[in-house]
Amino acid sequence: MDKNFYITTPIYYPSAKPHMGHAYSSIIADLFARFKRIQGYKVHFLTGTDEHGQKIQRAAEKRGLDPLSFCDEISKTFRDLSTTLNLSNNDFIRTTEKRHSKSVQNLWNILEKKKEIYLSKYSGWYSVSDEAFYSDDEVEEKEGNKIAKNSGSLVEWVEEESYFFKLSQWQDKLLKFYSENPNFILPNSRKNEVISFVKNGLKDLSVSRKSFSWGIKVPSNKDHVIYVWLDALTNYLSALNYPDENDKLFKNFWPATIHLIGKDILRFHAVYWPAFLLAAGIPLPKRVYGHGWILSGDTKMSKSKGNILDPIEIIDRYGLDSLRYYLAKEVSFGNDGNISQEKLESCINSDLANNYGNYCQRVVSFNEKNCNLTIPKKDSFSKVDIYLLDRFKNNFNKIIESIDNQDLNFYMNFIIESLFAANKYFNDQEPWNKKNDVKRLNTIMYVSLEIIRKISIMLYPVIPSSSLKALKIFGIQEKDIKFESIKKHNQLIINNKINKIDLLFKKIENKND
Ligand code: MSP
Repeated sequence: MDKNFYITTPIYYPSAKPHMGHAYSSIIADLFARFKRIQGYKVHFLTGTDEHGQKIQRAAEKRGLDPLSFCDEISKTFRDLSTTLNLSNNDFIRTTEKRHSKSVQNLWNILEKKKEIYLSKYSGWYSVSDEAFYSDDEVEEKEGNKIAKNSGSLVEWVEEESYFFKLSQWQDKLLKFYSENPNFILPNSRKNEVISFVKNGLKDLSVSRKSFSWGIKVPSNKDHVIYVWLDALTNYLSALNYPDENDKLFKNFWPATIHLIGKDILRFHAVYWPAFLLAAGIPLPKRVYGHGWILSGDTKMSKSKGNILDPIEIIDRYGLDSLRYYLAKEVSFGNDGNISQEKLESCINSDLANNYGNYCQRVVSFNEKNCNLTIPKKDSFSKVDIYLLDRFKNNFNKIIESIDNQDLNFYMNFIIESLFAANKYFNDQEPWNKKNDVKRLNTIMYVSLEIIRKISIMLYPVIPSSSLKALKIFGIQEKDIKFESIKKHNQLIINNKINKIDLLFKKIENKND
């Protein structure tokens, strides 16, 4: 079995500071990366910043900075955000790095050599905000402005000499690829949109710009810079040291297992990117997953709409793991999701403070009073014990499948149901009434501790630092976590000492403070 896993986030435009949509893509990618690591996979997890193009050039001009100094400054805020979000990324790529431009120019040269690129003239609409070309029927007039129908972004008329990629020639091959690889684009609803877009006919794609200079030069014609999306998409290869196809990283991790992106950039990843790769003779990624948007009210949370929940402010106030958990649970993965501070607070109270945190506290303090902070000697398990313990073993393959299919809802629901079942077990078994039956008391304690271990392992990808705090009860460190071990019920060593647990989540008492 292929035990390598390469996951990427989109590389972010450093045109402004990071917001919740960026945090969301990154947190979910981190969740999958961490899961695959504890499942025993060799994981490469990549994120970074997309620094070329007119959008960045204009943003830099507005600030009175040269584009590179501007990017240095804002790219750093994204790098810092990776730390703040506790991302386990193996690399952070900037498209202004040498390794990247080398890789993009190499890809360009291959495409040119294979006659996939020709020089002509572009006249049509361009949205700097989307860095995308639009045809007449994709544009409408609103309040005197021309805007792109799908994104609502302003478009401007562009007429200039441009290189074109022969995208039109790839229509049938792309359709064939989608039908032979039905899980290449997920979720399915998005796949259908892409297929109908391709079926409608593909026009050759303009892949260079001449009217500004902030980008990677076309190797054979320095008057042109390479279209920022051809530049940006190639980051997934440059981070593996492409064009050196013998490099260990490239050999181990290409083709990528999954490009995780937002639905608004699906066309670039599911149409243009595979077409470039097919044309260059490079294997295609295995999956492109377009997640939904984080909404505020009914609209996309975005800087231009001014409806942003700032991830840093939320983290300062509620803690990182609260935000990670909330996003993973609240947004039905694949769909758009509405988030709000009120719902975040009630989620912290109900799921994290009460259901998980309180359960861990209760079990450990009961142990302290009755078992002297020691793993007690268990007697044989009763039917209720086995029933609770076995839900992990019985669902083991399903849990792995849910992650492999990006069915995050199943994964999160399974954890929540397990927490309810654990709390119910502890309440129903009433160990405090079993002081005359030490064997039973000890067995209940053993089971309850085992459940903390199992649930905390499942929570590790979602809320890594809180899970590690809980696993400290047993002296389990990050490097020791094995997902496989949730199947077993005998992982706690009898008579071993356990550690007290620090408060995991503070309840939010007063909403109006
Ligand atoms: N630079 C390009 C991506 C190039 S990848 C080769 C880009 N950058 S972006 O900064 O504008 O957006 C990055 C990601 O953030 C996209 O996947 C986008 O969908 C996501 N989000 C931006 N706002 C969002 C929400 N409100 N909700 C969820 N994700 C959204 O596009």
